[in-house]
Amino acid sequence: MARNRYNEDEAIKYKFNKSSLRKVLWYVKPYKKTVVTMTVLMAVMSFVALLPPMLNTFILDYVATGKGGLGLSALALGVVIVGLVAVAVYSDTVFTYFRTLFMTKTGHSIVHDMRFKAFERLQKFAFDYFDNRPNGKILARLTSYLDEMADVFANSFVLLIVDMLRIVIILIWLFVIDFRLALIILAAVVPMSFVVMLLRTVLTRRHRVFRNKRSNRTAFIAENIQGHGVVKAFNRIDKNTAISSELNDEVRKSWDKVIRVNELHMPVMDGFFYIGLAVVYVVVLFMATGTLGIGSLTLGKVIGFISYMGMISGPLNEITSIFQQLSRATSNLESVFDIIETEPTVKDRDGAEELLPVEGNVLFDHVYFSYDNSRMILEDVSFEIPAGRSIALVGPTGAGKSTVVNLLSRFYDLNAGRILIDGQDIAGVTLYSLRKQVGVMMQDSFIFSGTIIENIRYGKPDATDEACIEAARRVHADAFIESLPDGYYTETIEQGAKLSTGERQLISFARVILTDPKILILDEATASIDTHTEALIKEALDVILAGRTSFVIAHRLSTIQKSDCIFYIANKGIAEAGTHAQLMEKRGYYYKLVMSGHKELAKDPAAQPAPQPVPQPAAAAEIEKLREVV
Ligand SMILES: Nc1ncnc2c1ncn2[C@@H]1O[C@H](COP(=O)(O)OP(=O)(O)O)[C@@H](O)[C@H]1O
Ligand SMILES: [Mg+2]
Repeated sequence: MARNRYNEDEAIKYKFNKSSLRKVLWYVKPYKKTVVTMTVLMAVMSFVALLPPMLNTFILDYVATGKGGLGLSALALGVVIVGLVAVAVYSDTVFTYFRTLFMTKTGHSIVHDMRFKAFERLQKFAFDYFDNRPNGKILARLTSYLDEMADVFANSFVLLIVDMLRIVIILIWLFVIDFRLALIILAAVVPMSFVVMLLRTVLTRRHRVFRNKRSNRTAFIAENIQGHGVVKAFNRIDKNTAISSELNDEVRKSWDKVIRVNELHMPVMDGFFYIGLAVVYVVVLFMATGTLGIGSLTLGKVIGFISYMGMISGPLNEITSIFQQLSRATSNLESVFDIIETEPTVKDRDGAEELLPVEGNVLFDHVYFSYDNSRMILEDVSFEIPAGRSIALVGPTGAGKSTVVNLLSRFYDLNAGRILIDGQDIAGVTLYSLRKQVGVMMQDSFIFSGTIIENIRYGKPDATDEACIEAARRVHADAFIESLPDGYYTETIEQGAKLSTGERQLISFARVILTDPKILILDEATASIDTHTEALIKEALDVILAGRTSFVIAHRLSTIQKSDCIFYIANKGIAEAGTHAQLMEKRGYYYKLVMSGHKELAKDPAAQPAPQPVPQPAAAAEIEKLREVV
């Protein structure tokens, strides 16, 4: 999958179709009672609201002319009718108030459920999902896209049904009053519907473009917030402002295109409507003068007909704006469903079992792995580590050290081969049970907003304060934490922006130690920690690693020389494996690495450190030879 950038439109595969509509209805289902009740009540109310013109016809043709009266005097009847009209109109208003309250709540509840599903799914996505998308674009889907839909669910659905119903009722009334005139109206409504449908298709397409452009802009802004330091350090303010302005321009242009079609709705609808209306007036004129011999109309009927015709424009306009909203909602829903309907690439298999409590024996069995299925990162990697051993991974940047350990947590699935922990294939166990027993401190451990102690407690929410403080002590994070104004209760913000990198690492270190995993992965856990603290941690490490299988990735070889085994990762696999002494003896990659930067390590680690490390002439000659070879 191509990496999506701020200047590339998102490739949203999901397209709205009939089955999507079913999915939408699935979200509406829990609120069926409210929606149905409101729809029925609205239908009744709109029927009531449609009565006044009918009553006008009645007043004009019967009461005023004294032809009718149901046994009442004309005045009494008039008063009763006026009262009825007032009640009808006002109860419609009162009802609208309550309907808005209930439906807004329902709309937001539906969006809440969708967001819940989307967020739940998002968290389940494997690393590859996030590797391939800018954060800003993901963010937009779960926030603004969904927010914009609350109103659609709150009002559009119900209004659409009711408005259609109102139009049907009005048409029926029109037919009752005079079917010939009604036919004229119908003749206008049918082609109008076709044109509106066409507009809707175009509009949805344009909304998609707009959505993508807006998403690009959000991605760029998010990237700039995250990288603000680099932006300033490299004097990119002007350049980035220019890019932002371009992206803004694209958003504006795509919105212009939306508006051009969007605003066509009214003229199109009104065009058809007024043509129909004009034809009706003309026909009425002919009727009134009896010119065409097509019969005549009473004054009441003319007034009634004209009133209803006027009333049709209300629901018609409303339907227009609902269609406009639906086009936007369709495009937004596509991007939300693109999350909800995407299966995570790494997930529990059907019938996945719990990973039983393990001792920590780890076996890589002919493991092949590629991030993008084109360039292999690991090829045919096999090794077995008995429980409780410590393994150090070293090797050049980009060799695949982090990849090896990420596979052990099943952050990615293998292309081929198996990884077994205590004989259980990690592909067949639940991710939850696996990750509970494999503790990871990643290269770039994240600090969340909250207090320091909450961050330490992150992986074990029921841990007591004492346990968290003890974990901090074990990794020697206590000194710096206690020196902070509020100690363990000092507030950190997202990404620990107010802490140094080393301090963040110490907190993450305490966090993983607290969970007491049987298998512990430390991916450059101490890379940014000062030498003094690192020395302290190194002492603590013996205690921390005791009784666990550990994988330690470190650049500082001093951290790793005591490991039971060192893996030198290169050439898509383990190029060398052995203890420090063995590998130094071997004079291969590891030896070369040690000699090039860490000469003091060339000595036997068990031996007493000499006050002045002396370069070894023999070894230096070896390096020269190697240089020639390379
Ligand atoms: N998410 C990713 N998608 C694609 N390629 C990746 C990804 N992460 C790492 N790589 C590539 O895989 C190789 C191994 O990376 P990694 O295991 O992180 O190396 P390191 O040994 O420095 O920890 C590198 O060439 C890197 O470019
Ligand atoms: Mg790495």
